Amino acid sequence: MSRRELVRNGGRGIGVDPKDAAMKITAPLLAVTTVGALLCGACLAFGQPRVAPPTAVIRPADVSRWVTLGTTLHMRADTPQTPDEMRHVQIAPDAYDQFLRDGTFPDGARFAVTFHALKADGSGAAALYAEDAERFFGLEILDTHHPDGRRFYAYPPGAVSAQALAPGNSCAVCHKAHGTRQGTFAHYYPTIVSLGREHGAP
Ligand code: HEC
Repeated sequence: MSRRELVRNGGRGIGVDPKDAAMKITAPLLAVTTVGALLCGACLAFGQPRVAPPTAVIRPADVSRWVTLGTTLHMRADTPQTPDEMRHVQIAPDAYDQFLRDGTFPDGARFAVTFHALKADGSGAAALYAEDAERFFGLEILDTHHPDGRRFYAYPPGAVSAQALAPGNSCAVCHKAHGTRQGTFAHYYPTIVSLGREHGAP
């Protein structure tokens, strides 16, 4: 799926259908438990205790406590002067703490992006746009053992659980081609840019 298509449908074409999200939540959990047990057994057999990211992930309930990295404003593809959507990017606190310590995102770092419709407000001292209803929620988990170096999960509005997208998915292709720091769009996140410089990044 191209970025334009992703923008047009707000990511809704990918991931879990909200209608059957409630049903999917139990089956993936069972599958994850079974697969997790097998993986864990395999890891121990090779003497490398390592917990692989689960293939199905419940949408994090604590995301409102995650650290905000930045918000981008996207314009309409057909009329580029017209604002269309804000995208709010966050990182899980444990990964942010490690970035503060050594300037890298750890394996397993979790990132969230939430697409919001816009609400124009010209009633105050200055005309502005505020974030309105959520259009899409996306999760990315870094995983150096995965062919894409990360796993992507897409949650249309109402979805509480999502399967990892297949390797080579369109999310991974774009992030690999255009991401700047470990496949993320860190150059759009001011704190990461300045903290990265403190750790020797250009
Ligand atoms: C055509 C390019 C493109 C595609 C396809 C794409 N992304 Fe991204 N992604 C971006 C850009 C650019 C950003 C920076 C924030 C923004 O404006 O969306 C980003 C940021 C993110 C972030 C915040 C962390 C980071 O890596 O910077 C997450 C999480 C994310 N995307 C998930 C997804 C998921 C899930 C999909 C697939 C359903 C996806 N992305 C598809 C371009 C893309």
